[in-house]
Amino acid sequence: MNLLKEEIANVLSSELSVPIPSQLFEYPKQPIHGDLSIPCFTLAKELKISPHDIALRVQTILTAVTSIDHVDVVGGYANLHFNRTTFADLLFSKTNEKVTNQGTVTIDMSSPNIAKPFSMGHLRSTVIGESIARLYEQHGYTVVRINHIGDWGTQFGKLIAAYKQWGVKEEVETAPIQELLKLYVRFHKEGDEAKGRRWFYELEQGNAEALNLWKWFKTVSLSSFQDIYSKLGVTFDSYDGESFYNDKMHAVIEELESHNLLEQSDGAQVVSLDHENLSPCLIRKSDGATLYATRDLAAAMYRKQTYDFTRSLYVVGNEQALHFKQLKAVLRKLGYDWSEHMEHISFGMMRLEGKKMSTRKGSVVYLENVLSEATALAEEYMQEKNPSLPNRKEVARQVGVGAIIFNDLKNDRRNDIDFSLEDTLRFEGETGPYVQYTHVRTYSLIREQTFMWQDGQAVEDGAWECLIILSKFEETIARALDSHDPSLVARYVLLLAQAFNRYYSQSHILKDDDNLQNRLSIVDAINVAIKECLYLLVIEAPKKM
Ligand code: ARG
Repeated sequence: MNLLKEEIANVLSSELSVPIPSQLFEYPKQPIHGDLSIPCFTLAKELKISPHDIALRVQTILTAVTSIDHVDVVGGYANLHFNRTTFADLLFSKTNEKVTNQGTVTIDMSSPNIAKPFSMGHLRSTVIGESIARLYEQHGYTVVRINHIGDWGTQFGKLIAAYKQWGVKEEVETAPIQELLKLYVRFHKEGDEAKGRRWFYELEQGNAEALNLWKWFKTVSLSSFQDIYSKLGVTFDSYDGESFYNDKMHAVIEELESHNLLEQSDGAQVVSLDHENLSPCLIRKSDGATLYATRDLAAAMYRKQTYDFTRSLYVVGNEQALHFKQLKAVLRKLGYDWSEHMEHISFGMMRLEGKKMSTRKGSVVYLENVLSEATALAEEYMQEKNPSLPNRKEVARQVGVGAIIFNDLKNDRRNDIDFSLEDTLRFEGETGPYVQYTHVRTYSLIREQTFMWQDGQAVEDGAWECLIILSKFEETIARALDSHDPSLVARYVLLLAQAFNRYYSQSHILKDDDNLQNRLSIVDAINVAIKECLYLLVIEAPKKM
């Protein structure tokens, strides 16, 4: 626990007269190497004493500390074994103070494109973004969740042209995304490019027919995305998408001009970023049309003005890395220091049986289908295992959707991940249902019990393993926040669930003896920690399943 680590670091620093940061300490992988290990190699260099001799001195110093039972010296390591009773009492006496007012963080997340399927990439952005949002909130920040909907661009001219030529209103109304995608794909095969451009021009000029069609595409698309968001349990503070910046780009272009940053290039206007070794950022096309980057420039400035963020995050796939580098570089050229507080939180691709999914080639997986399939599988499973479960449909959704989210968030976000529905939904192994099920088990143990921690009691082996993991809760979520990586929370909760299940199978938790209250308190602490981790991972924790 942080408390003890700091205490140890302080004692050692003053006794050895060198600053010793607690970050130096390691958690041993094997319990036999103790609860905390102090590698003495860097200290040895500083103090010009051999690592082994330092470890021996550490042993002498720390043996005097009451919360430490004994210290083993192995080579250049001092391995600390805590006094379990003292440590446990300390852990259960601790109260957490919540910090507040840490500033505002805007998170650009999800951000699907209208008239296109909600892709696995958008799912990743949604759940990684939401998890990071919850981590920030937990640490006292105000979070603004922004869904920067892709609702502007030349493709809407094409879509209008295609709809006017082949579209059927009723079909679009029944299955908007599928139908609009079909129209879009057909336009690419047999449509007239010039007509597409013409309609986009009309749209930009505010032609009523074009505008109404575009609005309608947007409404039907958003309502289909809304189904997904409500299944995932994610909401947004703003849906200001690309079109929201239409009337705000003029000012951006003027500002770039007044700083002499706009250069002509083949008739287009660009900002050169040679000095940063980046390709030029395209601001305006030769026909005067603005671009994705122009809208993002306007959005960045708008967000700074509106929310006065201390940090501005963009949870977007790593294929857009260059775009975000350019964005920051242009803002820097304009003299905006706050661009340093913008960060691209990138993530890898979700592959389907090893292959990249692509809208064009039709190898898309409709997320709606994946979510309902997962829910159906979960329901089947529960029908078998627990036929009398009340509100089975709701629990099946929580488990099915939770499985998909966990499968995503348990991976370092930067990695590409393979998607397999069957693996995701297994109830054992490193899955969401496994963690949810463990939570149910802890809850069923403590449900109808009253208990209070009793100081001074011995701690059993199985319980000790759990306590050590519990003591690392705060530092784990702090690290997850620092690195914007929810997988640290997922890995942690798996370790905790596994340790608890071992404990549960080894000891008779409900046995009516002197230790019962402490065992229940430990189970309760595990229950709370699992629930909290699941919350941070955007996963619900049913009480029965
Ligand atoms: N709509 C874009 C896409 O699907 C993502 C937008 C990300 N956010 C942003 N401010 N550029 O690729």
